[in-house]
Amino acid sequence: MKHVAILGSTGSIGQSTLNIVESYPERFAVASLAAGRNIDAAFDQCIRWRPRVVSMASEELAAALARRLRDKGVTATEVVWGSEGAVRVATVPEVDFVVSAIVGVAGLEATYAAVRAGKTIGLANKEAMVAAGEILTAAAREKNVALLPIDSEHNAIHQCMRAGARREVRQIWLTASGGPFRTLPAPEFRNITVEQALHHPTWVMGRRITIDSATLLNKGLEIIEACRLFDLPPSAIKVTVHPQSTVHSLVEYVDGSLLAQISVTDMRLPILYALSYPERVPSDLRFDMASLADLHFEPPDLERFPCLRLAYEAAEKGGAHAIALNAADEIAVQAFLERVIPFTGIPDTIGQVLQATRETHPATIKEVLALDGQARELAREVLAGREASQRC
Ligand SMILES: NC(=O)c1ccc[n+]([C@@H]2O[C@H](COP(=O)([O-])OP(=O)(O)OC[C@H]3O[C@@H](n4cnc5c(N)ncnc54)[C@H](OP(=O)(O)O)[C@@H]3O)[C@@H](O)[C@H]2O)c1
Repeated sequence: MKHVAILGSTGSIGQSTLNIVESYPERFAVASLAAGRNIDAAFDQCIRWRPRVVSMASEELAAALARRLRDKGVTATEVVWGSEGAVRVATVPEVDFVVSAIVGVAGLEATYAAVRAGKTIGLANKEAMVAAGEILTAAAREKNVALLPIDSEHNAIHQCMRAGARREVRQIWLTASGGPFRTLPAPEFRNITVEQALHHPTWVMGRRITIDSATLLNKGLEIIEACRLFDLPPSAIKVTVHPQSTVHSLVEYVDGSLLAQISVTDMRLPILYALSYPERVPSDLRFDMASLADLHFEPPDLERFPCLRLAYEAAEKGGAHAIALNAADEIAVQAFLERVIPFTGIPDTIGQVLQATRETHPATIKEVLALDGQARELAREVLAGREASQRC
């Protein structure tokens, strides 16, 4: 029996994880949960799963959840809060496996604490890997902890890499659906609405990752995540646009063989793979071979999707630039969702923040978070400057 902690239990990945745990009660049990602000979902999950510890984003939310649980007669669940609360959830002694699925750098400290505590990690929170991948992978090596990717592309690569030795890998190919604007002419990018950008053609995901998929910044974060997870330089990580999202990624070996992983577009499969690794367990997530009839691949257009170019630049520099790429994007995406900037304002903001970022490599999570804070401040200044110039 694996005892699972879920960081981000109320989100899309968190709920898919609970769905898998529900389907395999003989294999997996919920030990602890960390949610953000969705108190109703956290309450329902506590009633259903009776975790030993649950965390909410703030003290007020934790107090409200504790009250509601007490009123229902649930007293065995300890309610904690904030980043310390998430750390507590990730390090409960009986936890064997931590699903890291809080969105953004908010999930970083708890993920790091879980690695330090020797827990196996199912990593969905790519932003943690982008901001602090060098530190996380070093800690994982030191503690002999497996970092098992849940992101479908990296999960596919992890699977394909089981076919050969690391030194036999020439390069890897990350597939990208191309998002909803794959064929949209460049002049129309300025007028893209929030509703259009939130409509992903093949995946249903949280809001930030959906916008990141539309700008291709998500693929950029994945390039950096892949460099760190598989210890490869950015030049060995290629992107191919594959609108059907059927091939989840490929590994090219030195002899010219390309190995691809194909499955349904359902995140429960990579979650199940990570949770049960190194075993494979039967599931009903079956793939319809008829859908292999029409697969299409094309190179990405870096002119219309400048976020991908910016991500390659940040990947080459690493350190503060990778942190700034993620932080500036988080702020810019929020501004786009609040209709403060147009879609094209997202790459503009990230580009300006990267340009103003000094090359440095943090050695601790504290330094990472400080650089993250600086990049966010810079992004807010860029946005304020933009607004001021528009008023003139
Ligand atoms: N969804 C996918 O298919 C997919 C695929 C690959 C990778 N990922 C990655 O997985 C991560 C989660 O994505 P998602 O789509 O599941 O996002 P999501 O649906 O937006 O869920 C995010 C989760 O993080 C929690 N959260 C946010 N801020 C928090 C904070 N300050 N403290 C504690 N918890 C906080 C949210 O809690 P509340 O809802 O309670 O506020 C929610 O549980 C992201 O890093 C994403 O890039 C997702």
